[in-house]
Amino acid sequence: MSLVEVDSAVKTFASRVRGRDPVRALRGISLHIEEGETLAVIGESGSGKSTLGRAVLRLLDLDEGSVRFDGTDLGGLSPHAMRAMRADMQIVFQEPYESLNPRLTVGGIVSEPLEIHQPRLKTKEIRRQVLATLDRVGLPGDAARRLPGELSGGQQQRVGIARAIISRPRFMVLDEPTSSLDLSIRAQILALLAELQEDYKMAYLFVSHDMHTVESVSDRIAVMYLGEIVETAPTSQLFASPDHPYTQTLLSARLSADPRERHAYQSYAGDLSVTSPASA
Ligand SMILES: Nc1ncnc2c1ncn2[C@@H]1O[C@H](COP(=O)(O)OP(=O)(O)OP(=O)(O)O)[C@@H](O)[C@H]1O
Ligand SMILES: [Mg+2]
Repeated sequence: MSLVEVDSAVKTFASRVRGRDPVRALRGISLHIEEGETLAVIGESGSGKSTLGRAVLRLLDLDEGSVRFDGTDLGGLSPHAMRAMRADMQIVFQEPYESLNPRLTVGGIVSEPLEIHQPRLKTKEIRRQVLATLDRVGLPGDAARRLPGELSGGQQQRVGIARAIISRPRFMVLDEPTSSLDLSIRAQILALLAELQEDYKMAYLFVSHDMHTVESVSDRIAVMYLGEIVETAPTSQLFASPDHPYTQTLLSARLSADPRERHAYQSYAGDLSVTSPASA
């Protein structure tokens, strides 16, 4: 049994544009994530990556299909049981500032999950754990008294990570956790996530649109295209011999900073009808 098992997940949204067809964000996604493993989900903007990440955590409900965490079908849980489950399943967002309450201090933000999941903890113990967690993510203790707006982007993302790890989850969705950050900061945050994974034996679902980012951090890569997974393979195998034409296009785009890479993708898109997606 895998830690996370997604079976035939379907999610359709009413279009945000009036009169347009519904958006089929997930068209029958199946995947599994093992304990301690990093599965990267790669795909271009709009392919359904964030929808998948939110669905796995049941931050949104599926139209069809199921998500099992450690053998438990999340769809069958009461809101109360789901809340308890969230201690084990956390998320780090792309835009740290937007995901942090600007009116709470960093200490208040990071202590929130503890107050929810361990309501009997004494204030002093909460404070101790918050300071230890801030230290663990590389923030100074006095950050606890600051507001998110007083911190840099990289520090804000460290706060987002601290909030996610303080309940000691076994699984985290990382939704493009470094793409809003400066290049120099990205590597530091990736290194921190790798260390935390090692220390706490967490599994990651790492969402990205950038092959280069996930190459060093993922065990396996699932390639998403228009709401479907077209190929899943161990990272080294996917780089060495990509099966699906869309994966090949993503890889060749990675190798060149040439604006004509867009052209390569378009020529692939024209081929979609004649290719059969590999199974997940
Ligand atoms: N709440 C919603 N209402 C309507 N449409 C939505 C909603 N959420 C997502 N979508 C649509 O579903 C599709 C998939 O969106 P999603 O955010 O999952 O893509 P993504 O792969 O994460 O893209 P990006 O790389 O830009 O973050 C898009 O067409 C998006 O516009
Ligand atoms: Mg997204």
